[in-house]
Amino acid sequence: MVEEDALDRWPAGPLETVGRPAERVDGLARARGEVTYTADLRLPGMLHAAVLRSPHARARLARIDVDAAAKAPGVRAVLGPGELDVLAREPGYHGQPVAAVAAETSGRARAALAALAPEWEELEPLLDPDEAVRRGSLIVEPKRYRRGDVDRGLAEADVVVEAEYRTQSLLHNALETHGSVCVWEGSRLTVYTGTQYIWGVRDEVAEALGLAPDDVRVVCRYVGGGFGAKNEAGSFTLVAAELARRTGRPVRCALTRREENLDSGNRNPTIQRLAVGARSDGTLTGLRGEYVCSLGWDGWLPSTAGPMQMLYACENVETVEYGVKVNTPPMNAFRAPGFVEGTFGLECLLDELAARLEVDPLELRRRNYSHSDPLDGRPFSSKNLAECYRRAEPHWARRDEVRARSDGAWQRGVGLASQVWYGGGGPPSYAWVRVGSDGNAVVVTAMQDIGTGTRTAMAQIAAEELGLPLERVRVELGDSARGPYAVVSGGSSTVPSMGPAVRAAAGDAARQIREIASQRFQVEERVLALQEGHVVSADGGSWPLEDVTGLLGDAQILGTGARGPNPTGMRVLTFGIQVADVAVDVETGEVRVERIAAIHDVGRVINPLGAASQVEGGVIQGLGHTLSEQRLLDPASGEVLTQTLDAYRVPTIADVPEIVVDLLDVPDEHLTNLGAKGLGEPPIVPTAAAVANAIRDATGADVRSLPLNREEVLRALRDRERAVAGQAG
Ligand code: MOS
Repeated sequence: MVEEDALDRWPAGPLETVGRPAERVDGLARARGEVTYTADLRLPGMLHAAVLRSPHARARLARIDVDAAAKAPGVRAVLGPGELDVLAREPGYHGQPVAAVAAETSGRARAALAALAPEWEELEPLLDPDEAVRRGSLIVEPKRYRRGDVDRGLAEADVVVEAEYRTQSLLHNALETHGSVCVWEGSRLTVYTGTQYIWGVRDEVAEALGLAPDDVRVVCRYVGGGFGAKNEAGSFTLVAAELARRTGRPVRCALTRREENLDSGNRNPTIQRLAVGARSDGTLTGLRGEYVCSLGWDGWLPSTAGPMQMLYACENVETVEYGVKVNTPPMNAFRAPGFVEGTFGLECLLDELAARLEVDPLELRRRNYSHSDPLDGRPFSSKNLAECYRRAEPHWARRDEVRARSDGAWQRGVGLASQVWYGGGGPPSYAWVRVGSDGNAVVVTAMQDIGTGTRTAMAQIAAEELGLPLERVRVELGDSARGPYAVVSGGSSTVPSMGPAVRAAAGDAARQIREIASQRFQVEERVLALQEGHVVSADGGSWPLEDVTGLLGDAQILGTGARGPNPTGMRVLTFGIQVADVAVDVETGEVRVERIAAIHDVGRVINPLGAASQVEGGVIQGLGHTLSEQRLLDPASGEVLTQTLDAYRVPTIADVPEIVVDLLDVPDEHLTNLGAKGLGEPPIVPTAAAVANAIRDATGADVRSLPLNREEVLRALRDRERAVAGQAG
């Protein structure tokens, strides 16, 4: 059931609470360590699980001693290979679960893994993605897209640029590793878990165990980050549930940091063979892309060609994407999956084209602006990318000054890249609001806040609609047994999906309050409004809200709200541009990013403070992806070498540049009662390309392979020198 929104649109710009910076409602408690994450949970009688994982990329289990492990000290249950679907006898990647034990302590559980004494027959792994394409080792059919005639488009071009780009595999490394605690009460299961999708875990676990959906209760009040890797139940949850069933005790199964870097998903590496043609004025005549996405042993094919298909008005586009199956850990969604990788290739290609055409890169993007969806001509619900470009100008105009600060080996430059991504959200999603006699409001919904601050945004929306100060609104979330269905916190969809439902529920409660007030004060309901904790009337009357709600006694006002549909026949997307200033040491290849200006159009901004922190987080994570992070494999064995945070280098505070956040804050007039889109993913999309283009601006070198470490920068510089020498010769 999807109800339509019956609320007037709020005016643009800051209101009383919405649109004004709000500190996180749970910020202090979290910083003080007063809240309980799943990782903190210790239930009475709880057992600890440990998982035996394949040390090989491909192997057959020759022998395993389940009985010996069962007799090891403190062990209460053992699951051998094949006892659950997620426990493999012939593992296809390093880190794949093979067996599990539950014991009185985690130390005893780990010790019991040694007692399993597995013997392996090692098999030859398939690791090379191009070889996998040749052999037809694919997880899905190749995804082909075509519009117009690319061969003709490229033939008609004045300039054609072809290049190959590569992106690496990345590990999410959320602060809180994956984990669940499972408890049975009779035939009902409670799963405490760190998740981006309470309802998805409920359904997945119920299906796996043959239970009715509501026989599984999923609880997740606080999460230490997800970034796309916590959308599913995960093998650890199913292992904990089964061990808990067998032992009649609560069981905790949580990944160590090393396990996290083996088996919690990754951003899949890509090889992108791209071509672009343009007329001398910069008009694109053709775009072609072949994308080889190395998904690993399992996973799905994210849209890596999406930016090429969606960002520019180009009549002739042809793409093919291969999702190959190889003996590496399965990919998982990672903050704008596909688009981060595809934008790196496309936006570097555009800059290489701009250099060949001698057209200004910003101007090149303007000349190919799409005013309707290039895929099917649908109008956009809103698109203010041109305004983002306009606001980028002063940052872009600094480049002469930045270049002039080049000094000896340190060369400086500025680059930019555009962003397109989804983020409109959609139905269904529900919220309830209850108001008691004290005149305070509680929002109840079974959504999750994965660390992005959506709890705070929901409180602001309800406070705005009820005319209450923020501190008089509480948000209760994170429990499938204690609130209605809420959307996955993925695809930048929590605020645009949940926000309108929360506003609708608060609006329903507000209407009931006005109705009671109109009877109480003998005033027509239509002249009453809720403001600053008061009921006010158009003729100047004003009564504290408690004068109305105080009449309730133990009665409560209950409002319900649902997310309405997205506008039909329209395309809902987010847009933006980032401008990067970099310094490159041309002797060592070291890159320092000095400044990023991030300008994004995500509709109405609910909490400018929280939104800025999302942009900063996205940019910083993006810089890690650009410069230092990389999952390394032993090229012969397929063993994952980067299992710890000293080997896998996420950025530290010393790597963080000046970040200028500029959000347009223009409500989308066609989208919901809020006009708000999502912001979780947009800021990570263009960062790598903007930095790569700045390196080209600084040095003339075409960096094409992430991460842009010293090796890659020096390679590109040497290529550049050879090309220049060749021309001189
Ligand atoms: Mo996200 S990477 O859409 O969970």
